[in-house]
Amino acid sequence: ERIAILISGRGSNMDALIEACKKPSFPASIKLVISNNPDAAGLDAAREAGIPTQVIDHHGFGKDRQAHERQIDAALQAHNISVVCLAGYMRILTPFLINNWEGKILNIHPSILPLFPGLDTHAKAIKAGMKVHGCTVHIVTEVMDEGPILGQAIVPILPDDTEHSLAKRLLKQEHLLYSQVLKNFIHKEEPEASVDALING
Ligand code: GRF
Repeated sequence: ERIAILISGRGSNMDALIEACKKPSFPASIKLVISNNPDAAGLDAAREAGIPTQVIDHHGFGKDRQAHERQIDAALQAHNISVVCLAGYMRILTPFLINNWEGKILNIHPSILPLFPGLDTHAKAIKAGMKVHGCTVHIVTEVMDEGPILGQAIVPILPDDTEHSLAKRLLKQEHLLYSQVLKNFIHKEEPEASVDALING
């Protein structure tokens, strides 16, 4: 499969996917990285990895979200992409792109969906008194942070956790989960749940 990754910032999940795809046995390869943000740190990492990058800045399209997405769509088609992975892509997609790539766009979200959709998930989980937190890879549908769940991983929330310490612990699991789920998705295998992090502490 030919993968495109959409990012807006740091791109650590992108890095993990790039790493995973380097293994010869991995059934996919990253052919394109698109960022809506010209300053995304992830762009440099993608360039260093020799992956074609494209900045499609949403500024300049005014409120015409579809015009922005038409450019993204054109780039995906030009690179013959078959699966799109959102990795810290901070724009909500419109039905235009979602329908054009129906069932082919994956997202990673830092919570145990359907709990805590949207932003500030770590703070929300701590505030709710949760003892565990987690991340979800799902197929993108028209409702934000919904869509069929492909895999989840969980981590404990420790008594002295801050948003930051929890985010850091979870990020490691995100990196493991995303490539694993992508692989299963391509092989059309069953969804998976990982409790390793909790069991192994
Ligand atoms: C991750 O926590 C991801 O789950 C969320 O945004 C963050 C992106 O981090 N969607 P990075 O850019 O992959 O480092």
